[in-house]
Amino acid sequence: MTEVKKLISISTDPTIINESLKMKLSKLTKKELLVECDKLGIIKCKSKSKDELIKLIDTKTNNINSNTDYEPISETVAIRFPMPQYLGSKTKYIDYILKYIPDDVDSILDAFSGSGIVSYAFKQHNYRILSNDLLSYNSVITKALVENQNIKLTNEDVEMLLYDNPLKENFIEREFTDLYYTKDECVFLDNLHANILKLDNEYKRALAFASIGRTLIRKILFAYFCHTKAIEYRKNEKHWKRNPAINSDIKVLFRNYVTEYNNAVINNQKNNLSFNTNILVSADTFEVDLVYMDPPYGGTHSDYGSYYHFIETYINYWKDEMLFNTTKQPKNKLIKSKFATKEVVQAFEELFEKCKHIKYWMISYNSNATPSKDKFVEMIQKYKKNIDIKEINLSNNNGGMGLRKGSKEYLFICY
Ligand SMILES: C[S@@+](CC[C@H](N)C(=O)[O-])C[C@H]1O[C@@H](n2cnc3c(N)ncnc32)[C@H](O)[C@@H]1O
Repeated sequence: MTEVKKLISISTDPTIINESLKMKLSKLTKKELLVECDKLGIIKCKSKSKDELIKLIDTKTNNINSNTDYEPISETVAIRFPMPQYLGSKTKYIDYILKYIPDDVDSILDAFSGSGIVSYAFKQHNYRILSNDLLSYNSVITKALVENQNIKLTNEDVEMLLYDNPLKENFIEREFTDLYYTKDECVFLDNLHANILKLDNEYKRALAFASIGRTLIRKILFAYFCHTKAIEYRKNEKHWKRNPAINSDIKVLFRNYVTEYNNAVINNQKNNLSFNTNILVSADTFEVDLVYMDPPYGGTHSDYGSYYHFIETYINYWKDEMLFNTTKQPKNKLIKSKFATKEVVQAFEELFEKCKHIKYWMISYNSNATPSKDKFVEMIQKYKKNIDIKEINLSNNNGGMGLRKGSKEYLFICY
């Protein structure tokens, strides 16, 4: 945390934070203020007056009452993590989230880990991380890069993964040819799956599944599986020129992602763990100092299982399952999240009850989400006396149902 962060004590009243911070900053010399600006990534400010510098620092550290858009401080974003394309990912807000972690926190539960990038950033900052998500795909990513500290795929492993396996099955080829991928690509996927299962180490298998999962997302337009336009778009020059990866060689892309995921394996000497559970069932079993909650925002429009169903089907190789509608979803296998139903309010009530033993809660939330911010505060107040709400105005649509331009992104810090 920066010196400036240490000056801020968490309070339920944002105006108190601003005033006490401003008072403390006013005691610094101009030179000291410039040092604080530098730490916060505020550039080209040498000619500013003391008052102007204080205003800049105040805006950057606590923009709750400011109308400026948040700009991430890029150096501390999880640089080594393969850049995700995941609906609702908090890639842009990582520094913002890190900044408000209280000083006495050592262990964190990332209850809805999604792409894994926030868990990974916590790991980089030396917290002990427990990552959890309902989807298998997300849990293989955190198995590979959060729980795993030093295992990588070797060149021999990669050659083995790509060799023609006479024992491969043909489930993907049979069911999915020309739906999202071509026949040859589907055959490649069947073959790769058979070979991944031959890897004798769970972290290697996780690295391989994470790499192919990322490849699969890279090769379809819109980066999720709720439409069947992928093959058609590939033939359309207008589409593939904008996104050449959709027509690139699946084997080359996979190899590149293996390198990226291998390079992202880091060791923070903590006993980090990856879980694949329904948080509404498991939350009370986690012993941590802080839980970070980034639930789906969109109510009934935020069913992550159906967005990423093909990767779930592939990783689990649900070859005997009924596949439903034109997108071929394994509806009997996907666990529908209560956060993606009309019972979303009840889901939050259950979540809060199950997390009541955890000292700090940090919650990402959005002005378009259900329930409303006021109702949400009321629900949290049942468990936590202090609720500090940080607010970020979004300048761009960041993907995900709640993250629309003009909507407000909140970070609740509760204890
Ligand atoms: C907004 S996304 C999280 C994004 C993540 N913070 C990131 O930066 O990539 C919400 C996640 O919650 C997961 N999820 C939904 N319901 C869940 C449940 N009941 N238990 C665990 N995870 C759940 C979804 O699979 C999805 O990955």
